Amino acid sequence: MLPRTLFVFLTLLLLPAAQPLILSRRAALEISLTFASTISDSSSSTSATSQQPAYDGYASTYDLLDDKVASSLSFLGLSQGRSDLLSNSYGSVLEICAGTGINLPYYPKRKLKSLTMLDISPNMLKLAEERNESYPCENVKFDVADITDGRAVIGRYGEGAFDTIVDTFSLCVLDTETVRTLELVRRLIKPDGKILLFENARADNSFVGAYQDLTAQAIAKKGGGKGCVFNQRVDELVKEAGLTILDRNDYAGGLFRAYVCGRGG
Ligand SMILES: *[C@@H]1O[C@H](CO)[C@@H](O)[C@H](O)[C@H]1NC(C)=O
Repeated sequence: MLPRTLFVFLTLLLLPAAQPLILSRRAALEISLTFASTISDSSSSTSATSQQPAYDGYASTYDLLDDKVASSLSFLGLSQGRSDLLSNSYGSVLEICAGTGINLPYYPKRKLKSLTMLDISPNMLKLAEERNESYPCENVKFDVADITDGRAVIGRYGEGAFDTIVDTFSLCVLDTETVRTLELVRRLIKPDGKILLFENARADNSFVGAYQDLTAQAIAKKGGGKGCVFNQRVDELVKEAGLTILDRNDYAGGLFRAYVCGRGG
């Protein structure tokens, strides 16, 4: 386990070494590194049975956590990033690992035929349903399902069922199940559909990336990390699943990345 003081110390020690980063980015990065592991919308997990009660337990404090980092998030441009990314959604939309429905305010409701918010945790989805009162979406439904259970998910929706599939900040929680989940997403999307991802990623900067590699496992094991492994090489995982990256926007030096992907050939 990495004590918090050591974590902060390492952050301060390593950041000045990140020469290619300009100063304002450096400040953003410091905040990012501190919070990156806590930014996870997901309640999904590789092990449904062991994790579901834990995530149900998180549900009540979840938004509080999000509030605490909210100002940092807007500083980093992540709220705008969500909005920009989700403006690409249209038609029948599936959001996986939808958690407490934090994306509900950002959907372009008029372009949506339907919105299915899927999560493993009924308690999280209950909060999402409450959020629907403030940010109403006419044709929204909240489905409890384990996204790592491919057979059940395909059985429920069928192949090629959605125009848009969304995931924000959950691949890091899916960890070793990421590629398998993206392959399932590929089966669920229509041939010309769009897959929208906003994720924690390993930064290209070698110092920052090395720092992430050094701390990722320890941070993921802490409660606040919610099991989020924040040094995933997302580009590679996306391609490994057979998807095509059509557009990518980086935030905080590439610690956070928004992708528009196609189904691929
Ligand atoms: C979401 O809000 C809309 C608008 O108020 C409402 O019509 C709909 O029934 C709500 N959906 C759910 C599942 O709560």
